[in-house]
Amino acid sequence: MEERIISSEAGDQDISFEQSLRPQTLRQYIGQDKVKANLEVFIEAAKMRRETLDHVLLYGPPGLGKTTLAAIIANEMGVNLRTTSGPAIERPGDLAAILTALEPGDVLFIDEIHRLPRTIEEVLYPAMEDFCLDIVIGKGPSARSVRLDLPPFTLVGATTRAGSLSAPLRDRFGVLSRLEYYNEVQLTDIVVRTAELLETEIDWLAAQELARRSRGTPRIANRLLKRVRDFAQVRGNGAVEETLAREALELMQVDRLGLDHIDHKLLKGIIEKYRGGPVGLETISATIGEESQTIEDVYEPYLLQIGFLQRTPRGRIVTEAVYRHFEMEVPER
Ligand code: ADE
Repeated sequence: MEERIISSEAGDQDISFEQSLRPQTLRQYIGQDKVKANLEVFIEAAKMRRETLDHVLLYGPPGLGKTTLAAIIANEMGVNLRTTSGPAIERPGDLAAILTALEPGDVLFIDEIHRLPRTIEEVLYPAMEDFCLDIVIGKGPSARSVRLDLPPFTLVGATTRAGSLSAPLRDRFGVLSRLEYYNEVQLTDIVVRTAELLETEIDWLAAQELARRSRGTPRIANRLLKRVRDFAQVRGNGAVEETLAREALELMQVDRLGLDHIDHKLLKGIIEKYRGGPVGLETISATIGEESQTIEDVYEPYLLQIGFLQRTPRGRIVTEAVYRHFEMEVPER
């Protein structure tokens, strides 16, 4: 089956159950207060002037709500959301087809925008800047360029690696918002909110325990909630309470800090095979059998954030905190 390069969410009657759990408005969205406060003003101003919102780049680690925010922006602006991703757009014609099908004011969301091929980025520049497309017709000496007008639109780009975006592309976004890891209070609120939508009873201490073990990430918090809810249903009376939540999390190998077996493999691998480092990313990747890009984008950011890992020019080093977490003797360096 041919891969769909774009999907429409607005207007669809049967939005998925997963989507129905997501906040639909800025008011419902918990956390990211600075990003929200700014967007609120920019959206309000654009609406007052009856203009499209300027292009928005959302960046930060995975699972923090970039896709959700794109949907909220479209919803708050009262326009359609069109969704695609960097790797799904292979030829300039793919992008041209998407852009020419937009309705005035639409939000085009490009996930993983850092993976757009450079040739496609170049089509995007005039589209973002002047809402037009330069299309080359014909080949060789008779080739000529035709300018095509596009409806005004808002591009919302999402990336886990703002540094991998080319400068000309980055410079064409009027709003750059960095999403941060959530704190425990915010994650507890998110767990309680999702539990309500799932019609699952949960006590406050259980919600807090899930929040503590979610690595600052709502996607993980909600995933753990669903699994713990399964345990509650099968092993308990359906209500998620603290002891049961803790037992379920232990069974799922999620430790007190929310580190899972891959985090453990990574940290213990560096300790046991490389005496705590420094060791290069590719070596770690080969040692533990995880792709280096996944390590860099998914696992490392949180380990760096909590001070378990350091990046140095000579490679990665685990810190003393890791030895203490594993109740290991801290070596002399
Ligand atoms: N579900 C996932 N992320 C959320 C957020 N930031 N606010 C409310 N509910 C959420």
